[in-house]
Amino acid sequence: MNSYTATATAHPNIAFIKYWGNRNASLRIPDNGSISMNLNGLVTKTTVTFREDSEEDVLILNGKSASYDALQRVRSMLNLVRTITGIKQAACVESENNFPTGAGIASSAAAFAALAAAASKAAGLDLDEPALSRLARHGSGSACRSIPSGFVEWLPGDDDLSSYAISIAPPQHWNLVDCIAIVRELPKSVGSTTGHGLAPTSPLQACRVTDAPRRLEICRKAILERDFDTFAKITELDSNLMHAVMMTSTPSLFYWSPASLKVMAATSRWRADGIPVCYTLDAGPNVHLITTTEYVDTIKKQVQEIQGVQRTLCATPGGPVSLTLSSD
Ligand code: PMV
Repeated sequence: MNSYTATATAHPNIAFIKYWGNRNASLRIPDNGSISMNLNGLVTKTTVTFREDSEEDVLILNGKSASYDALQRVRSMLNLVRTITGIKQAACVESENNFPTGAGIASSAAAFAALAAAASKAAGLDLDEPALSRLARHGSGSACRSIPSGFVEWLPGDDDLSSYAISIAPPQHWNLVDCIAIVRELPKSVGSTTGHGLAPTSPLQACRVTDAPRRLEICRKAILERDFDTFAKITELDSNLMHAVMMTSTPSLFYWSPASLKVMAATSRWRADGIPVCYTLDAGPNVHLITTTEYVDTIKKQVQEIQGVQRTLCATPGGPVSLTLSSD
C-alpha cells in the first residue's frame, strides 16, 4: 500500500486593511487589497495523508471527527489538488490548533494555509509561495495572507493567477503585538463567507472599495516607516468602514457587543494619554488591540479591568507557513 503524507504549520493573521466582499465569490477574488500581520505563537498544525486503502476523505479536528460542512470545505481544496496532480486517492486530514477553538480568533486563515501546504506537498507538488498563496485563497480568502512571512499584503488581482499575497516586511521589522480582548468565546453567528456575499447590498461598500488603494498606501508606508500614529488612525478607520458596511447590509450584520464598544472607547483614551495602541475588529465582537512590546503589560492590565472582557491573548508578528515533515 502506498501513502503520501506531509505536515504543515501556519499562523492566523489579523488584517489592518480588511478584506470584505468579493468580485468573484467562487474564486474568492476580493473587491479590494488587504494588509495583515501573522500571529506568532498561535499555530494550526495539519497532516494530510493520501492513502490507497481509504474510501473517502476524513477530517479530524482537534482529535474529533469534524462536521459535514467543515469536511465539505476541506474536500473542495483536496479536489483542487487532485485535479492538478491527477492523484485519485482519498485523504485523511488531521488538524490541531494550539489556541482555544471557538475563542473568536480567525482560525480559517491558519487552517486553509496549513491545509494547502500539506495537501499539495503530500500530492507531490512543490509550489512556490505565490502558487501556495493562490491555492490557500480558494479555501478562505484571508488564508492566502498566512502563507508569506510577517507583514503581508494581498494583491487583489483580477483573476485566479493575479490574486495572491506577498510579504512586505519580515516579523522582526516592527515590535507590534496584537493583544486580543476576548469578550465572547463562541463562534460568530454569521460566518464570513455569508458576510462577503452581503457586502454589495450596502450602499457604503462601493465607497469603501474605491477608497481602498489610498488606505493601503497609507498603511503600507506607515508599517515600512514604523509610524505608529499614522498606522493607528488608518487601521481604526478601515475597521470602522468595514463594520459600517456590515451594519448597512441587507440583512444587517452587527458584530460589536457593548463590551467591544467599551474597549474601543478606552483605546481612544489610552492613545490620547500617549500609549501607542489602536483597535481593529474582524467579523466578531473580540477587540484586537495593536500596541508595541513595551506597552503589552500596561494594556493587558487596563483591558482586564473593563467589564465584559473575559481574558486576553497576545501575539507578536509571525513567520510563514512551513512544512514540518514529508515522506512517501
Ligand atoms: O477569509 P475570510 O472569508 O474568513 O474573511 C475574513 C474577513 C475578515 O476577517 C473580517 C477581514 C480580513 O481581512 O481578515
